[in-house]
Amino acid sequence: MGFSREIRPGVFSVGVIDWDRRLFDELIPLPDGTSYNAYVVRGSEKTALIDTADPPMAEVLMENLEGLALDRLDYVVANHAEQDHSGSIPRVLERFPEAKVICTSRCQELLEEHLKVPAEKFETAEDKSTLPLGDKTLEFLYTPWVHWPETMSTYLREDKILFSCDFFGTHYATSDLFADERIIYEPAKRYYAEIMMPFRVIIRKNLEIVEALDLEMIAPSHGPLHSDPSFIIEAYRDWSSEDVKNEVVIPYVSMHGSTKLMVDHLVDALIAREIGVKRFDIAASDLGKMAMALVDAATLVLGTCTVLAGPHPNAALVAFLANALRPKTRFASVIGSYGWGGKTVKVIQDMMPHLKVEMIEPVLAKGLPGEEEYLALDRLADEILKRHKELGIA
Ligand code: FEO
Repeated sequence: MGFSREIRPGVFSVGVIDWDRRLFDELIPLPDGTSYNAYVVRGSEKTALIDTADPPMAEVLMENLEGLALDRLDYVVANHAEQDHSGSIPRVLERFPEAKVICTSRCQELLEEHLKVPAEKFETAEDKSTLPLGDKTLEFLYTPWVHWPETMSTYLREDKILFSCDFFGTHYATSDLFADERIIYEPAKRYYAEIMMPFRVIIRKNLEIVEALDLEMIAPSHGPLHSDPSFIIEAYRDWSSEDVKNEVVIPYVSMHGSTKLMVDHLVDALIAREIGVKRFDIAASDLGKMAMALVDAATLVLGTCTVLAGPHPNAALVAFLANALRPKTRFASVIGSYGWGGKTVKVIQDMMPHLKVEMIEPVLAKGLPGEEEYLALDRLADEILKRHKELGIA
């Protein structure tokens, strides 16, 4: 049995809640599931569907649409070509062959390639162009790189709603249509960290586009809707700014306990200097939480033992992800223990060329750390404090 919910007169939420999904991209943990939101805007003359759903959920979306008893569907607006939003377009076009797909030209290329949607089905949405539906008007706003190059947002002028697709989204399955801000801040930050963080410079430009709108609601295509747009816009402003916090993120892996002893010592030394610490045993931690910690922290210290002359693969994974996520982290270091030798520090440094960080002298111990290494860890904590003070955050 399908269902839809009217969020404003003539505007319906018809998307799908994926309560049980626990992994995205075969990588990102989804502790709270997700949703693929789609919206029907029924004007006095034309009807548009905004975004669709992940292909395994196509039939649920179709049931939800059938519940609205639409005579016809004039347009399918594709804000973004990634399959979790576009993947059910072929199924929608099968049911409503009269519908035209409205998207950016870049999105059209992708949809033709990824989903084999024929070229004649498309109409291009130019930046700031409008699509009249009768008593309702859609305006298309190019908001690229949230998080693919072709992304746009759709503004419903009369109702002051922005349909932003991934932008401002949250992987959070809930029966609540609207976000409870006490709950949604953390999942929204997780989503930002995992999906949006690499694009924070262009996100700041996109925020200006959004802030210029007369807005009463943001309706993303994952998670609940924002009835107070300023809440999520302010959060994005903070996360995407270049401001860092007096915090050190310490992901670590230890095979025989020596690296762990060094992490224990450094954590205590940092706390004693009133520096915030976010510590993660990589093998037992949620990658999403590590990504979230990197949104704000001034410093990253990677703790790793040496395996086969290089970093442990778990530490290499974190270095690879940190490099891809491009956090605004300013300083980095490496600590850890080795058995007989190796190039751990160089391998890790070479894995993070996109991090614009100043490296602080690493601390390595051969086997168990001793007095000398503990003093070196104290000096590392002093160096971190000094740099945080220079930034005015400690
Ligand atoms: Fe939710 Fe980029 O897709």
